Amino acid sequence: MSRSGAQEVVTPDGPPDITPDGSPDITPDGSPVAVYRALPAEPGFTPLLEVLRPPARVLDLGCGAGRLANLLAAHGFAVTGVDASPAMLVGLAREVRTVLARIEEVRLRERFDVVVLASQLVNEPDVRRRRALLATAQAHVADDGAVFLEHLDPDLLAGPPERTATVGSVDVRFRVLAVRGQEIDGEVRYGLDGRTWTQRFTSLLLDDEALERDLAAVGLVSRRRLSPTWLQAGAASSGPATPPEPNAGTDPRSHPS
Ligand SMILES: C[S@@+](CC[C@H](N)C(=O)[O-])C[C@H]1O[C@@H](n2cnc3c(N)ncnc32)[C@H](O)[C@@H]1O
Repeated sequence: MSRSGAQEVVTPDGPPDITPDGSPDITPDGSPVAVYRALPAEPGFTPLLEVLRPPARVLDLGCGAGRLANLLAAHGFAVTGVDASPAMLVGLAREVRTVLARIEEVRLRERFDVVVLASQLVNEPDVRRRRALLATAQAHVADDGAVFLEHLDPDLLAGPPERTATVGSVDVRFRVLAVRGQEIDGEVRYGLDGRTWTQRFTSLLLDDEALERDLAAVGLVSRRRLSPTWLQAGAASSGPATPPEPNAGTDPRSHPS
């Protein structure tokens, strides 16, 4: 399972490892690097992979160790990955251009056909920080381009408070710990090669209306829903929201992998 990006605190179950570049094994936002190097792109990114069509310029915001960026680069996309963690960026393929920066602060002098903000970073509870992430997406998407947001299922609380899955070689246990209206405290426990990491987070559940408000605040508009957790948006000035037109770099018929 991908991680929620808000207010994360990590408790490694044991002393943190040190990666080859000397950076700790846990990112500033609390993500375990070894786990994100091991997680496969699918099924988490499947809805996105089904609509992307090379060649296209892709900006992956919060790219981590590159499970999406590396796959897309191998399939002919020109990929730029942004992340605040040097330890994560070490995992990116040579073909991926890397930018070590905070998403909120990065401003590249170019626009992209596809901008991705995955891993539920948009569920940040603080509205200013949330919109700052979206503003970066808006600042980098081409007029006819697409922004893809991965967010928590707004109906998450209708499901069981605890769920487990095995994703590739990673065992994942997700638990809701506390609920305050639309804000949740949760915990994800990862198991890999006999090691475990427990990551806590606070996230705000956002329904379509709430997402639309945040998008509008930064000059974006929703275009189509790919799944309960993947939303495609675009520049508000680039035309009507419906009917959805395939944007540059996207095609509902092809799959890059
Ligand atoms: C849960 S990991 C997911 C990585 C990747 N998107 C994936 O799905 O494999 C979240 C990543 O976002 C990065 N991140 C979180 N907040 C960030 C921010 N404000 N600016 C830059 N990177 C950020 C973290 O360093 C981490 O690598």
